[in-house]
Amino acid sequence: MEFSIKSGSPEKQRSACIVVGVFEPRKLTLAAELIDNAAGHYLSDIIRRGDMDGKAGSTLLLHNVPATLSDRVLLVGLGKEKEFREKEYGDAIRGAVKALKETGAVDGTLFLTEIAVRKHSPGWRIRQAAIIAQETVYRFDQFKSKKSDARHALRKLTLAIGRRNELAMAEAALAQGLAIAAGVELTRDLGNLPGNVCTPTYLAEKAQALAGEHGIECQVLERADMEALGMHSLLSVAKGSHQPPKLIVLNYRGAGKNGKDEKPIVLVGKGITFDSGGISLKPGLDMDEMKFDMCGAASVLGTLKAVAQMQLPINLTVLVPTSENMPGGAASKPGDIVTSMSGQTIEILNTDAEGRLILCDALTYAERFEPDTVIDVATLTGACVIALGHVASGLFSNDEALARELLQAGDEARDRAWQMPLWDEYQDLLKSPFADMANIGGRAAGSVSAACFLSRYTKKFAWAHLDIAGTAWKSGSEKGATGRPVGLLAHYLLKRAGKLN
Ligand code: BES
Ligand code: MN
Ligand code: ZN
Repeated sequence: MEFSIKSGSPEKQRSACIVVGVFEPRKLTLAAELIDNAAGHYLSDIIRRGDMDGKAGSTLLLHNVPATLSDRVLLVGLGKEKEFREKEYGDAIRGAVKALKETGAVDGTLFLTEIAVRKHSPGWRIRQAAIIAQETVYRFDQFKSKKSDARHALRKLTLAIGRRNELAMAEAALAQGLAIAAGVELTRDLGNLPGNVCTPTYLAEKAQALAGEHGIECQVLERADMEALGMHSLLSVAKGSHQPPKLIVLNYRGAGKNGKDEKPIVLVGKGITFDSGGISLKPGLDMDEMKFDMCGAASVLGTLKAVAQMQLPINLTVLVPTSENMPGGAASKPGDIVTSMSGQTIEILNTDAEGRLILCDALTYAERFEPDTVIDVATLTGACVIALGHVASGLFSNDEALARELLQAGDEARDRAWQMPLWDEYQDLLKSPFADMANIGGRAAGSVSAACFLSRYTKKFAWAHLDIAGTAWKSGSEKGATGRPVGLLAHYLLKRAGKLN
């Protein structure tokens, strides 16, 4: 969709549809009031009759409203003004775009972006509106023979701002929002692709294409390279598959002339393109959803795309260890012992705990970039879904300041995380009689023991781990990748780059 910014009175806009808000109970927002005044109280009459009471989630479409230059006016219920916060703002934008899609309007002008949201700037409102609007019109129909009808599709959105002097700031926020939306879209597309298309080789090709588009340096380590580096933990996961594993390395260097040597932030994404469980085979129910087990990889690539499109003045390295996890005659067996690149040995008690096995070698590899910060993102444990459901991603960190920054970024971007403990007491869960550690810690605190495992490979830098098993995709009738936590990560990086407005 195309976007633009505009300031001015709603009744004077020429648009296929003007969108204005109504608070509960029956209270017009400023933009709605301007239309109402021009139109001889046309809106207040309708509201008095009880057709729109301002309840959150309600919408009412009006045609040929007197004294307006637009074909339609869409009223959007916002709920109580006192309770109008981040969530309600997002719901309003989403509801408006959904309703717009149902009309014949090919363009719309949103005045909802003028409404104050406590603790947030006008720039935040524009950025979030762009991200949410793009997310709402997203479709994944490349495998459908019949595409949805595009004749009357919504093509253009204009976002209103209250003051002319906000224009430059709003334009910048819009550009950021669209860059983040593009990153989210890439993440969702990669996540939604089936496992027979999105293989490790495919991910490597996509990474190279992304690098080409943005002038980013890209290197793909093959099996032989990984053997030479001693990445036997990562390699062990690929042994049951006919697809060769890859370690994708991308270096974005945006920190200007003097910042060239600035230590990079490293993002590591779990790229299991299909997780059957291996010899510890998963049950059949919903196993198709294990094509989403590369959503961590997709999210770090999406974040990189957003950062590159925004040209943020930071150095960012992205690492994607990627493999299938399949059973087979050569596959790892429960009880097998492998030596990781770090030299630590691992007893593989369950081949379905494969994410940590590919991540640990990638985390050791991250040391060579002398990172400022390392953040890994992984659909790591079913236990995290049990703990936090589908609302918050699990956050673990060996650095309290980093944890706080990420939690705050998640709050501000409405892509939230919740911190979980990494206390020493939990490390005992990983004891093995035969190797330095086991790759599982039992059913209790499953997401914590997984994080504890990773913590043994991240002692040399400030590190955080995001378990996105519950947030990376939706099941059921709305099945599909969500694009999380690109919003959180992009917001964190915007802040680090000093570019938030
Ligand atoms: N990819 C899964 C985690 C997962 C499961 C994410 C279900 C979302 C939904 C991971 O590789 C896995 O299988 N983890 C095991 C670990 C266990 C064997 C210790 C799990 O969570 O059951
Ligand atoms: Mn698994
Ligand atoms: Zn997995």
